[in-house]
Amino acid sequence: MDKIWDGRIKSSTNKLADNFTFSLDVDIKLYKYDIIGNVAYAAGLKKIGIISNQELLKIINGLIKIKDYIENNKFSSSEYEDIHSLIEYELKNEIGEAAGKIHTGRSRNDQIVLDEKLYLKNAIIEILESLTNLELTIIKLAKKNVNIIFPAYTHLQKAQPVLFSHYLLSFFEKFYRDINKLLTNFEECDYLPLGCGACTGSGYEIDRNYLSKLLKFKYKAVNSMDEVSGRDYFQDFVYNLSCIMIHLSRFCEDLIIYNTNEFSFIEIADEFCTGSSIMPQKKNPDILELIRGKSSLVAGNLLQFILLQKSLPSTYNRDLQEDKVIVFNAFNQTLSSVKIFKELIDNIKINTENINKSMKNQFLEATDIADYLVKKGETFRNAHNITGKIIRYCIENKINLNDLSINKLKDYSKFFDVDFFKKIALIECINSKVTDCGTNSSNVKNNLKFATERINKIKFKIEKLKLRIPDFNNLMKEIQNEMD
Ligand code: ARG
Repeated sequence: MDKIWDGRIKSSTNKLADNFTFSLDVDIKLYKYDIIGNVAYAAGLKKIGIISNQELLKIINGLIKIKDYIENNKFSSSEYEDIHSLIEYELKNEIGEAAGKIHTGRSRNDQIVLDEKLYLKNAIIEILESLTNLELTIIKLAKKNVNIIFPAYTHLQKAQPVLFSHYLLSFFEKFYRDINKLLTNFEECDYLPLGCGACTGSGYEIDRNYLSKLLKFKYKAVNSMDEVSGRDYFQDFVYNLSCIMIHLSRFCEDLIIYNTNEFSFIEIADEFCTGSSIMPQKKNPDILELIRGKSSLVAGNLLQFILLQKSLPSTYNRDLQEDKVIVFNAFNQTLSSVKIFKELIDNIKINTENINKSMKNQFLEATDIADYLVKKGETFRNAHNITGKIIRYCIENKINLNDLSINKLKDYSKFFDVDFFKKIALIECINSKVTDCGTNSSNVKNNLKFATERINKIKFKIEKLKLRIPDFNNLMKEIQNEMD
């Protein structure tokens, strides 16, 4: 196989070296973006007179054929080193010498950045859409179970009563921050790399505004050396994906616990469980466990990505080729996890009876007892101490709070009064958390509305972002219109 650098390097590369540098198995994924980039770049070269109208037509038709070949698996992919060489060589086979002009003033160093950025913009939209669907499912589930009282845990010990909807919305917030980070990620990667060449810029007055318009980049890279070496947009992406996965893993862990026989707060639908090869009674939450496992892989991807760039000399170095392996893996793992998790929680059953049982006589009201005394005139520290003593008394005597008389309570503090038992009913404890971030019913209902409003705004933003992604057919039309 000929090489693009045959002029300089006389002997053909060692077979092992060929195999070692080969990346087409990975970067074939970028073919669509590479072709779109080639079409736009060819139009840019025509605009400055480097290729003629006729040559442009030939190039475009050749690229359309190559796209078709790739989509129908008509190439044996091991022939070429990478996606750029595949397309350039096949174009030459298709249309002859005119193909030799397409790389004028361009390098694979700025070309790969272009492909990666186009991939990334699409990937961000895909993950944003899946997260939006997950958020909508969380809201739906919270609305459906808005009044269920649930034990909030700290240290995996029952802490205070909370609305189940408030618990669910805590994950809404986490994913909402991830969504916003991805929106910033999109802005940060939306800089046109073409014109940067290998590292110092292009020797041709290629119209970068025109290329930005065709390829729908909002901004243009400012410094060629930075642009061919920087991969921050990918690093941010892998970081954002690992945030999503870590959030998912925590949600999964909760659900795995709540799904155990011991808790039985929820039941995962059969279609999202697996059985055991030996124990016939088993119904295992493997999907949740796999998401938890995959979260480690994606977090590992982040470290891989950071290390890949550490101490690299300026500007492009071949190490960077490995970035795609990392990003593609992190993206695929995260996208499939978000999608299946959404379906799984959409089909979850809530066992209210068991949840209620679990909160009986567990002293979840303890903080509210202290608060009760504070409102009557005790200092909080005294109130805390008094409440602790009452609870110890109950535990030692194997009785519940409700078994205590007001008179007995008065032994501990003169402030106890007949309104006491009403004030420490679980729903009262919930509604007494009056801050606008707390679990009181009216706040949770407001937050449900607020969540819906925010997600609708995000959906609108995603639709607008889609307009900033080049589409192959539209690009063709645009260029053809210019030629007429
Ligand atoms: N395949 C390379 C990558 O993925 C892009 C080509 C640049 N190669 C080079 N030797 N300058 O990063």
